Amino acid sequence: MSAASRRLGILLSGRGSNFEAIAHNVLNGRLECEIGFVFSNKPQAHGLARARELGLPCGSIDSAGQDRAAFDAQVADLLQQNRVDLICLAGYMRLLSGEFISKFSGRILNIHPSLLPAFPGLDAQHQALVHGVKITGCTVHFVDENLDSGPIVLQSSVPVLDTDTVGSLSARILREEHQIYSEAIGWILKGNYRVEGRRVIKTHN
Ligand code: GAR
Repeated sequence: MSAASRRLGILLSGRGSNFEAIAHNVLNGRLECEIGFVFSNKPQAHGLARARELGLPCGSIDSAGQDRAAFDAQVADLLQQNRVDLICLAGYMRLLSGEFISKFSGRILNIHPSLLPAFPGLDAQHQALVHGVKITGCTVHFVDENLDSGPIVLQSSVPVLDTDTVGSLSARILREEHQIYSEAIGWILKGNYRVEGRRVIKTHN
């Protein structure tokens, strides 16, 4: 299957700016694939409204109060019905069940606003400021069964300025997120990589 006929499933919970950056690159042909389905666990998510406006296949199920495994089984059905090849978490603020991760093993990417393994979990930019690091950034990684821990695909660094607030630092990191997520997706869809332990290594096939 060529990269161009591959189908992305994008999972989001909120603003959806990473989704929009990916969609923009797909629509202008810089990223050779299709968006197969956009899913949100928050029916009111701004990103979901944008997917609708763009005429993309999309849907939501409210995750509030739902059993994780049962909820994820419904999400997996939706993604499979829409023949999704690669799943991209784009601000999807919900832990995935082990069943979901093994069903799509090696086919789930996430973006996180820090240079992992530093500052996993919530409020990574705040964690970076509190810790006093001078450089932070963002990471695209494969998703495994632990939080923000799978093999790293791409990273980009940004400086932390003395004048930074969480808002200014987040905005600087976000600009890099929008670049590297599409770059990582394009690379992974082409399939010219292998995973050795924790290392994602470029191949030339
Ligand atoms: C992004 O900064 C993303 O890295 C972060 O949520 C934001 C979503 O923004 N994800 C995480 O913190 C996951 N642990 P967006 O909805 O505008 O793409």
